[in-house]
Amino acid sequence: MSDNQLANKSQAWSALFSEPMSELVKRYTASVFFDKRLWKADIEGSLAHAEMLAAQGILSAEDHAAIQRGMAQIREEIEDGRFEWKLDLEDVHLNIEARLTELVGLAGKRLHTGRSRNDQVATDVRLWLRGEIDEIAQLLNALQLALVDVAEKNAETILPGFTHLQVAQPVAFGHHLLAYVEMFARDAERMADVRRRVNRLPLGAAALAGTSYPLDRERVARSLGMEAVCQNSLDAVSDRDFAIEFSAAAALVMVHVSRLSEELILWMSQSFGFIDLADRFCTGSSIMPQKKNPDVPELARGKSGRVVGHLMGLITLMKGQPLAYNKDNQEDKEPLFDTVDTLKDTLRIFAEMAAGITVKPEAMERAAMRGYATATDLADYLVKKGLPFRDAHEVVAHAVKTAIAQARDLSALSLDELKAFDARIEADVFEVLSLRGSLNARNILGGTAPNQVRAQVARHRARLA
Ligand code: ARG
Repeated sequence: MSDNQLANKSQAWSALFSEPMSELVKRYTASVFFDKRLWKADIEGSLAHAEMLAAQGILSAEDHAAIQRGMAQIREEIEDGRFEWKLDLEDVHLNIEARLTELVGLAGKRLHTGRSRNDQVATDVRLWLRGEIDEIAQLLNALQLALVDVAEKNAETILPGFTHLQVAQPVAFGHHLLAYVEMFARDAERMADVRRRVNRLPLGAAALAGTSYPLDRERVARSLGMEAVCQNSLDAVSDRDFAIEFSAAAALVMVHVSRLSEELILWMSQSFGFIDLADRFCTGSSIMPQKKNPDVPELARGKSGRVVGHLMGLITLMKGQPLAYNKDNQEDKEPLFDTVDTLKDTLRIFAEMAAGITVKPEAMERAAMRGYATATDLADYLVKKGLPFRDAHEVVAHAVKTAIAQARDLSALSLDELKAFDARIEADVFEVLSLRGSLNARNILGGTAPNQVRAQVARHRARLA
């Protein structure tokens, strides 16, 4: 083949091929228009590989310097939007390598020594995802802090606590919000745990079997800040379980966001009227002038479906793939990218939205009053006076039935009326029947008493600092 023929070759493998790809197949197989987002990780990985090749005497110092120079220019071109991405060059890896060769000649062609796109792409995705996980960890922190702030202000605010969406017992609104802080704290733990398995180095696995060059894989891992080297070449290039478990962790975050969204939507509805969201997170209706719709939480609730869907896509993508690398894996990127984008935007917006919640304590308290939320407290009161709990439960059920029939709260019944249900009831019952008394009584670790809520706020602040 003449030099001219060589120069015209646009594909990395073409000597064997006797016909060009159709435009449709090219478009079908190319990934550059989405995987170009990996460019920074690709350059970082290549520079670490080149540095190691030079240290091992596989690449000359001049070639190494040329590669560094070329990559610096490519970085600038991409940052300035001057880099010309070519569909013909299939993916981010071949685009960058071809440009490097254009810029620095033979040194560019030597970069790929002891490497394959298979271990290269696995490394790039891991490097990129590690950076994203770090950002997500910060965003989860910020959201938790925003919720802790609102919780602290509402350590005493009475909210009807629900089971089955029926009024159950009064809880502090702050306590309720701290339940979400717990969820997001576990999400952050999960992300940190996933990060450990993301942060391992495939490079050196080459196409699938390792390489005959004396590469120093540990050195590359160290220079990329990776915790370990993948110990089996076939596994290193093929499995995407790290992406799947990240997606699972992301899906759980979105499920938690979705639960919170559902509550915000309910609380903001006229039937509840517990809170208001700042106008900038809501929209109006084009036909009903009175409307203010909680669009942001509704959308987040919807987007949780999309992220759960990506998890299903990724896990199904992996199922049934024989070892080692298969092109199927190119399909890991779009769901992964969209998961990260959706999650980051959602967390950012929720931290802001949480900070702007207007709480309506009177409405919350009124709703708690309506639901006989202190009935359990009355039963507990009778137990303390010697009645077995099951009997106390029965006595209170009668009292509630009578109160409902008269449309009165238990605390509105007179002492004589109450005594009619059980003679053990005395004047101290009214403290027990009050919402505030009920709240204060749950003074146990993890309970809703305001001083417990404040203790949790302090614990979270120390943890999140
Ligand atoms: N674009 C490919 C991917 O995303 C890179 C690896 C391709 N390797 C190969 N031998 N075709 O997975």
